[in-house]
Amino acid sequence: MTPDRRLLRCSEFIRNGGVLLDIGTDHAMLPCYAVESGRVSGAVAADIAEGPLAAARRNVGNRGLSDRISLYLSDGFLNIPAAELERVTDVVIAGMGGEMIAKILEDAGDIPKKMNLILQPNTRAEALRKYLAEKGYEILGERAVRDGGFVYAVMNARYVGGRRSLSDLESLVGRIDPADSEGRQYIILAAKRLRAAAEGKSRSKSPEAAESAAQLFGLAGRLEDLAENITERS
Ligand SMILES: C[S@@+](CC[C@H](N)C(=O)[O-])C[C@H]1O[C@@H](n2cnc3c(N)ncnc32)[C@H](O)[C@@H]1O
Repeated sequence: MTPDRRLLRCSEFIRNGGVLLDIGTDHAMLPCYAVESGRVSGAVAADIAEGPLAAARRNVGNRGLSDRISLYLSDGFLNIPAAELERVTDVVIAGMGGEMIAKILEDAGDIPKKMNLILQPNTRAEALRKYLAEKGYEILGERAVRDGGFVYAVMNARYVGGRRSLSDLESLVGRIDPADSEGRQYIILAAKRLRAAAEGKSRSKSPEAAESAAQLFGLAGRLEDLAENITERS
């Protein structure tokens, strides 16, 4: 079974020949695909919950991949044996909120610093981008993907050291390219969300809410400019 467009986009950032760790693997769809397609030599699949892990174990077994994919019940990186983490080159954390992904990285301390990170937040992508910049991770590449009526961002990040604080605009767009058609859709949808929030606030009588609404309208306008003043590439 081929993974959906969102997971396929995540797989594009996995480096050839490495060992993948998939945190929050659910049915182990991504590790199975990465191993079967020859992208990686092996994989570690982890999930915090028994049910998804049992589904992952069934899937891995049915596909005859038990010798190449090891499975762990684990909260993020925390319950994965050190020897396994030692051989991991690339980690995917996909399909969770941006703040949850940031927490999983934070709880892991230095462990993710040696890995190629592929992160796909379902919500609060801007919070994750801010966290990464503050903790010394750089987003090297980022692509949007439309799947099932949503447009998601997939980030490829690496630890480079230092600390940076992102502006609101930087945190909303990251490295999404407005010249890419799905990138443009991502930016337009982010602008729409800001406009809706601004309109809600503008109905309030308080001066603080009015100020916040003006700020959100301003940001939405800048996102719309970014999306509109670009010639589409694809
Ligand atoms: C919505 S599914 C996403 C599955 C898959 N990664 C994807 O993107 O299609 C989220 C999965 O993450 C798992 N999960 C949530 N928090 C986790 C954590 N702290 N550590 C490991 N797995 C976690 C859940 O049990 C669930 O199976």
